Amino acid sequence: MSKKTIGVIGAGKMGSALAIPLKNRGYDVIATRRSVKKMKELSDLGIEITSNNRSAVQKSDVVIFSLKPGDTVEQMQKLRSELEGKMVISICASLPISKMEALLPNSTIIRTMTNVASKYGSAFTIYSISKKVSQKKEEEAQEILDCFGTFEKIEEKYMDPLTPISGSGPAYLFTVMESMVYAGLKVGVPRDLALRASHQAVLASAKLVEDSDATLSELRETFITPGGVTIEALYELENSGIKAAFMKAIEAASDKAKKSSEEFMEKMDGMDLEIEEEN
Ligand SMILES: NC(=O)c1ccc[n+]([C@@H]2O[C@H](COP(=O)([O-])OP(=O)(O)OC[C@H]3O[C@@H](n4cnc5c(N)ncnc54)[C@H](OP(=O)(O)O)[C@@H]3O)[C@@H](O)[C@H]2O)c1
Repeated sequence: MSKKTIGVIGAGKMGSALAIPLKNRGYDVIATRRSVKKMKELSDLGIEITSNNRSAVQKSDVVIFSLKPGDTVEQMQKLRSELEGKMVISICASLPISKMEALLPNSTIIRTMTNVASKYGSAFTIYSISKKVSQKKEEEAQEILDCFGTFEKIEEKYMDPLTPISGSGPAYLFTVMESMVYAGLKVGVPRDLALRASHQAVLASAKLVEDSDATLSELRETFITPGGVTIEALYELENSGIKAAFMKAIEAASDKAKKSSEEFMEKMDGMDLEIEEEN
């Protein structure tokens, strides 16, 4: 069976991080953006590049929109007839399934949130669908999401609140890793050695969470010996209110996601989704 052709509309930071693993998995990929010159990395990998969204959609079986929300709506409106009967995957924050189904009533809509680790097949992708999507179509979508890493179906109401963890989570962990490297530097450990140790600490933590049934607190306990080293650091961390700092930070990001979503929806409510397509 021949592999599908997948169009990636808006191959910027995220779109490129989706196009590359799809190509690596053997799909034919067509990527678009207005500045074609900026897609050299993609064309060097054998991905077809163009600035013509319409022809890319015409040649594709599945179309991924990785544009900013306003551009996504604009392009969905313009390309409505070319998208008929096709699967449309959006990675756009703030754009609900109901609005996309109104824009594209004859397409299969898959709403997702992922992150740039998809480039290496290591992202955690969450997705939501409406009842209109058949099990067969959902399985087809899962085959594509599998190229980006692990995936999980969630209720759409969790999409915005979860985005600061699933979409941005690695950014917070880089801050933790950098703090460990700096701590190493402060006590005289060479930078690259401190980075390797911090990297392995994150890998080991993830592996323990993955392979064990223990809770996070139980896992932490296994590193603590009475009067030992770990408890010294944990005491200082507790004293600095680190958990509250993380909770407040992620809650602030959730509030921001909710606010952006509401503002975008207000803008959309003022738009006519039935606008005639341009030729
Ligand atoms: N960055 C992340 O970590 C992340 C994570 C999850 C989801 N997202 C979502 O991904 C989407 C894109 O974010 P991003 O960070 O990848 O932004 P980005 O790097 O700015 O990518 C958007 C791309 O769209 C292209 N574009 C704009 N108008 C276009 C048009 N009419 N036709 C074709 N291409 C067009 C732009 O390139 P030209 O100017 O050359 O056209 C740009 O490269 C957003 O909706 C965001 O919510 C991002």
